[in-house]
Amino acid sequence: MTQRGLLIVVEGCDRSGKSTQCDILVNSLQQKGIDTELVKFPDRTTQTGKMIDSYLQQKSELDDHAIHLLFSANRWEAMKTLSEKLNNGKTLVVDRYAFSGVAFSSAKGLDLEWCRNPDIGLLTPDIVLFLDLSIDDAEKRGGFGDERYEKRELQIKVRDQFMKLKDDSWKFIDASQSKENVEKEIWNTIDATRNLLQDNIQELQFN
Ligand code: TMP
Ligand code: MG
Repeated sequence: MTQRGLLIVVEGCDRSGKSTQCDILVNSLQQKGIDTELVKFPDRTTQTGKMIDSYLQQKSELDDHAIHLLFSANRWEAMKTLSEKLNNGKTLVVDRYAFSGVAFSSAKGLDLEWCRNPDIGLLTPDIVLFLDLSIDDAEKRGGFGDERYEKRELQIKVRDQFMKLKDDSWKFIDASQSKENVEKEIWNTIDATRNLLQDNIQELQFN
């Protein structure tokens, strides 16, 4: 029987280096002969993803609850494919997941518990890596971009919300280090967790 792949989630505020580090991690895992694929949320290519993209680029307006549910739907519509891939032995590195969903919407003022509900039942990650960077350091990296949430005040609140969501299973990575050192720290964390999980891998869990 094929051993299922791992569901590795990478979270953090904007500018923390998530996307760069996700690419590096996918490459490193592939080089070790581990069948790995990158997944990114929001997936802007689907119907829900196009609405999300337009909202983020400030080309359209949506009620805060409605956009929250769209982000969640964008994950739900991917779940069947992702669970099949995992069960076929593919490891997935996921750039943002439901934690971003809850952190951003609750930072805007929505009730935290309300925000959690639509994502209940999604696949549970095996590992959550949190790329930790202060908002001051994030801003020093050439400033935030032009998308809707890329503003200092909101990012500070988002970071506070992430801290409310964390649990013991989260691995904090100091993202203020050089790119190479972040890469090393992530690799060591993944390697240790992989060894730990290898003998004791459970069936896919749903939260
Ligand atoms: P990106 O910059 O990683 O493409 O993410 C787009 C923005 O959407 C980013 O500011 C975080 C935000 N976001 C949410 O508000 N809710 C979600 O569920 C996700 C996945 C992202
Ligand atoms: Mg962005």
